[in-house]
Amino acid sequence: MQTLESNKNIQLGTTVGDESANLPDFTTDAYKDAYSRINAIVIEGEQEAYDNYISIATLLPDDSEELTKLAKMELKHKRGFTACGKNLGVEADMPFAKKFFSKLHGNFQTALKDGNLTTCLLIQAILIEAFAISAYHVYIRVADPFAKKITQGVVNDEYLHLNYGEKWLKENLHSCKDELIAANKVNLPIIKKMLDQVADDAATLAMDKEELMEEFMIAYQDALLEMGLDNREIARMAMAAIV
Ligand SMILES: [Fe+2]
Ligand SMILES: [Fe+2]
Repeated sequence: MQTLESNKNIQLGTTVGDESANLPDFTTDAYKDAYSRINAIVIEGEQEAYDNYISIATLLPDDSEELTKLAKMELKHKRGFTACGKNLGVEADMPFAKKFFSKLHGNFQTALKDGNLTTCLLIQAILIEAFAISAYHVYIRVADPFAKKITQGVVNDEYLHLNYGEKWLKENLHSCKDELIAANKVNLPIIKKMLDQVADDAATLAMDKEELMEEFMIAYQDALLEMGLDNREIARMAMAAIV
């Protein structure tokens, strides 16, 4: 059963008061320049997510229908974020975004080729989804009205994707824990580096780096807890981000 955890949403959406007072100026060259890279990362991320769920379906034929449904949501997200860029008159810097995802993309492709389903699910359904959820939550607070509406719709879908990964890994934890921990050790530091790399552009969009990291750790650790890992295991896995 896939349900949104309402407590998360309350916890992550606590901004109150006159939000518009703190919004950045969406029309400046500096904003648009940073947006050309952030928007591209988001568009590429949604495309990668589509490709990854379609690929995961080849390893999990029984879940093919559900995975294809998740994949299609990602394409819808991609279209939404493409519209956000157009709305601001910004052209997304796709070559930058491809490079941004290249390491994680390569690791996913290797895992797929080797039939390492646990690694594929960790990369897409846990790490990338938690990254997306954290970024979208922070972005919603400072986005232009058009993008805000689109992003609010998207973030709820991403919880469904995260829940899918959690559920499979929970049910198979007895046989996949070792691979999960090993894959996390390799891929969590990459997520941290991606976050560092995007921090300056995110700051131009009024997205705070510490806040992004906090939101990521909340979504990531909640997912590990949901899978049935204990506090010590979660702490150990999270430590992989500190390298
Ligand atoms: Fe998505
Ligand atoms: Fe997703």
